[in-house]
Amino acid sequence: MKTKGIKTIAVMTGGGDCPGLNAVIRAVTKTATNKFSLEVWGIEDGFLGLIEDRMRVLKYNEVSNILTVGGTILGSSNVANPHKHRVAVGKQVRTKDVSGNCIKNLKKRGIDALICIGGDGTMASASRFAKKGVKIIGVPKTIDNDLYGTDITFGFNTAVNTATEAIDKIHTTASSHHRVMIIEVMGRYAGWIALHAGVASGSDVILLPEIPYRLDKICDFVIGRSKRGKRFSIVVAAEGAKEKGGKMVVAKKVAHSPDPIRLGGIANLLAVQINELTGLDCRAVVLGHVQRGGTPTPFDRTLATNFGYMAIKILMKGIKGHLVVLKNAKLSSIPLSRVAGKIKTVPKNNHLIKAALAVGTSFGI
Ligand code: F6P
Repeated sequence: MKTKGIKTIAVMTGGGDCPGLNAVIRAVTKTATNKFSLEVWGIEDGFLGLIEDRMRVLKYNEVSNILTVGGTILGSSNVANPHKHRVAVGKQVRTKDVSGNCIKNLKKRGIDALICIGGDGTMASASRFAKKGVKIIGVPKTIDNDLYGTDITFGFNTAVNTATEAIDKIHTTASSHHRVMIIEVMGRYAGWIALHAGVASGSDVILLPEIPYRLDKICDFVIGRSKRGKRFSIVVAAEGAKEKGGKMVVAKKVAHSPDPIRLGGIANLLAVQINELTGLDCRAVVLGHVQRGGTPTPFDRTLATNFGYMAIKILMKGIKGHLVVLKNAKLSSIPLSRVAGKIKTVPKNNHLIKAALAVGTSFGI
C-alpha cells in the first residue's frame, strides 16, 4: 500500500548518540518496507551527510540484528547545522545557509520525506526544513530527556540504568573508605538523569540545575551523616548543577556547534570544596560518555520500536512537520514548530523530588 504519493523516504540520526538509535532505524525501515513498500535511504552522520550528499539505500539485511546494538549504524554529528554551515572563504571561515542544497540532495534521489531522529538541536533544524516544505517527521532522542513536548525520550531509561549501576558500585567503595563520593552525570541544563539515578541508587545528596544548591547545606548534611555513624556519603551532581547565585561549570566551548557549551567539572570542584570545608575524604567520579553507550534496555527497545513505527504510520496518513511523542502514556504527535527552541527541565514540584525529600534526600538547599 502506498499513500500520499510517498514512495521513497530517508532516515537520519542527529546530535549526540544514545542507546536505541538503531532500534528506531530498524523500526522505521522495516515498517516502511514491509507495510508500505517504500524505498528507504539512510543519511550518514546526521545533517552533515545531508549537506555533503552522503546517503545509501538501507536494505533489510543492514537493519536486521541491530535492535540491541548501541550507537547508530548511520553515524551522527552534534555540530552540523545546515542553516549555519561552516565554509572556507579564502583564509576565513564563514557560515552559510546550505539548506537549499540539502533539499536538492533529497529531490535528486526522489526522496519524498525525511525521518529525523534527534534532540532539540536536530528538531530546531527539522522545523526549519518543514517550513520550507520538506515532509518531515521527528523522533525524540536523547539520554538527557530534555526534549520539549514528550514525557520521555528513548535513551534516557538506559542512561539512568547505566548511571544507577555505576553509583551502586561506588556505594560499596565509599562505605569501605568512609568517603564522600561525588558522581557527575550528564543531562545538560536538565537534571532528569541525576534525579532518577540519584533516587534509584539511594544517593544522599542530589544536585540539579533546576535547584541551585548551597555549599554549606551540603557540608552540614554530610557532616550530620558522619556524626550519626554514616561515615560515607553519595552525592550525585548533574553536570549543569550550580551553586545558588553561581554559574554552571563549563568544560569547553565548541564554537560551531548549534549548542556550543559543553558542561563538565562540577564533581571535581565539589570534591575540593567539600574536603576543604569538612575535612572529609572526597573523590570525584565523572561518568561521562559511558551513559551514552551500551545496549538499550528493554524499555528503550520497545519505546524506540513504537516511535519508529508511529513515525511511518503518521507520515503515511498525511501528517508532516510533526514530532512523535509519548504523552500521558499515549503515543501521539505535535507540530515541530511547538518544540523548536525549547527544552523540558525538571519542574520544582516534580513528584520524584517530593518523594526523595520525604525519604530524607538532600537537594543541597
Ligand atoms: O545531549 C547529550 C549529551 O550527552 C549531554 O548530556 C552532554 O552534555 C553532551 O551531550 C556531551 O556532548 P559531547 O558528545 O559533544 O561531549
